[in-house]
Amino acid sequence: MANSTLDVAIIGAGLSGLTLALALHQQSIHCTIYEAREAPLNVGGGLMLTPNGLKVLDKLAVYEPLKKRGYNFDHIYFQDAESRRILETIEYGNLERYGFRALRVYRYIVLEELLAAVKEKSIPIYFTRRFDHVISETEDNVTWKFKDGSIATASLLIGADGIHSTVRSYLAPGLKPIFASMAAIIAAVPTAQLELPEASDPDMNAASNIYPIPSGIVVPRLGAFVIAPQTHNGDEVMITVQRPMTEVVEARWVDVDTDKEHLRSLLRQNSERFPSIVQNAVRDIPTDQLRI
Ligand SMILES: Cc1cc2nc3c(=O)[nH]c(=O)nc-3n(C[C@H](O)[C@H](O)[C@H](O)COP(=O)(O)OP(=O)(O)OC[C@H]3O[C@@H](n4cnc5c(N)ncnc54)[C@H](O)[C@@H]3O)c2cc1C
Ligand SMILES: *[C@@H]1O[C@H](CO)[C@@H](O)[C@H](O)[C@H]1NC(C)=O
Repeated sequence: MANSTLDVAIIGAGLSGLTLALALHQQSIHCTIYEAREAPLNVGGGLMLTPNGLKVLDKLAVYEPLKKRGYNFDHIYFQDAESRRILETIEYGNLERYGFRALRVYRYIVLEELLAAVKEKSIPIYFTRRFDHVISETEDNVTWKFKDGSIATASLLIGADGIHSTVRSYLAPGLKPIFASMAAIIAAVPTAQLELPEASDPDMNAASNIYPIPSGIVVPRLGAFVIAPQTHNGDEVMITVQRPMTEVVEARWVDVDTDKEHLRSLLRQNSERFPSIVQNAVRDIPTDQLRI
């Protein structure tokens, strides 16, 4: 099949669907995106992107704008709360070695830049089109139905519709992700609120600082309290903890996310056992970015 006759349908305008569309377009392969919602799903929070992914985004001309809208760093630390000893340093980026520093950036910003590039390239994208099921498949094409009853055909159908993928259920019926009973609770606070000790290095990521960030501050058996800058100048940090969530069945996620006081209390759990920067972090937790 020659590229010119290939017509690819992508289900889902998330990070994968949008990126794939830009990559196909770059190879002169025609594609169309169908997204169930009115806009790409933004579950909130930030992403840490590493050189492998950033290289791809760079080839698609999306890295430069993102770089200016996120926090550039090299290392993530795990630090013992009591002794302040760095337990582990994970290299996430390195300009000399990989050509890229790592990037911490709001998810909605990545979606925004990808979507802008898709629109700029005039790649067709349809919202409120929810894929429902495959009707038929031949050597040359696949035909499927949307929830609204409409039918479409393409040479290839690609499922980029997330962890609960409906497209996947056609290829692998019965396969269902299992909830691991752990959930991340996230919130955003101004970095100034942490009252970090005076920095010996203006780069907040430098290991010479008393609390270099991004970092997971660890109390044995209580886990890590994660602090990660996510604005370009680092004036805002995302705080994250992981908590067991055995009581949550899927249908109730929305309810759990709505109970902001409960989420606040989960972030504050055991904070008295953590250093003052953690206690400062959880003192005032704005509601707008507080979610599960
Ligand atoms: C809290 C959290 C933190 C994370 N942190 C990081 C990180 O730091 N770095 C990193 O690389 N990854 C991170 N991830 C993982 C990352 O979010 C996922 O790998 C990524 O979102 C997957 O992208 P996707 O496009 O495949 O799916 P999704 O982002 O889920 O997008 C799927 C899209 O398909 C649409 N859709 C669903 N069903 C249909 C249908 N039937 N028809 C049409 N459209 C449909 C949805 O509305 C959605 O827009 C994190 C995930 C979470 C939950
Ligand atoms: C799909 O492919 C078959 C041959 O495999 C062809 O007969 C049919 O017309 C194609 N359908 C569309 C809508 O292109």
